[in-house]
Amino acid sequence: MRQRIVAGNWKMNTTLEEGLQLAGDVAKDYIKNRPGDIELIMAPPFTHISELVKATAGSGVKYAAQNCASEKEGAYTGEVSVAMIRTTGATYVIIGHSERRTLFGEKDETLFKKVRLALEESLVPIFCCGELLEEREAGNHFEVVKKQLDNTLFRLDEVDFRKVIIAYEPVWAIGTGKTATPEQAQEMQAAIRKMIAERYDEETANDIPILYGGSCKASNAAEIFAQPDVDGGLIGGASLMADEFMSIARSF
Ligand code: PGA
Repeated sequence: MRQRIVAGNWKMNTTLEEGLQLAGDVAKDYIKNRPGDIELIMAPPFTHISELVKATAGSGVKYAAQNCASEKEGAYTGEVSVAMIRTTGATYVIIGHSERRTLFGEKDETLFKKVRLALEESLVPIFCCGELLEEREAGNHFEVVKKQLDNTLFRLDEVDFRKVIIAYEPVWAIGTGKTATPEQAQEMQAAIRKMIAERYDEETANDIPILYGGSCKASNAAEIFAQPDVDGGLIGGASLMADEFMSIARSF
């Protein structure tokens, strides 16, 4: 059975103090209630990760960075390398979030470099893909997502590809309160699985976790997670409230 995953992307929110409170509350709930067999991941800002890892040690909660540099080291002021992320105790890294693509101009080639560096450093990439509203309205959404994967993850060999997690996040659903319907999420995620089967094989396609992201919250998580090709969620806004986040985690 595929790993079920709930990951919280805090984006540029929380001071360190607020982060410690939030991560502490999540970890406490996780220890107490152990929502059945899921991997629980939090992606706080870089500046908090080490502290939160220490503060929640032993809880089983895992950490992700929200981004990483596309170069290994050197004169890249303000960038954070995969090796630096590794030393914080994070074991995952989100790559290709639509905010990185649209607000910071990250292109597929850059994202591919990031994926390779993350894998070299034994960090698990949580790779985001998804279409814009106009692309969906034009009926190009499958093509757009296929191209995003062809240009990045599908260039990996099977051994490396099997280490990644995919997050399907329709851009029109991120932070808008407009969730994809469970049917829309299922339709795309089944299509992604088919693309994987065509590029690699059925077994690989069946083993890769595919998360849904975009206005996922406690009130809609259960019906989305009930879809056969949805293995969990990448949660933005709703991951900033411990209760809400943990009730999403209990939605399988
Ligand atoms: P949202 O964000 O849940 O606030 O829509 C999801 C994401 O950006 O990963």
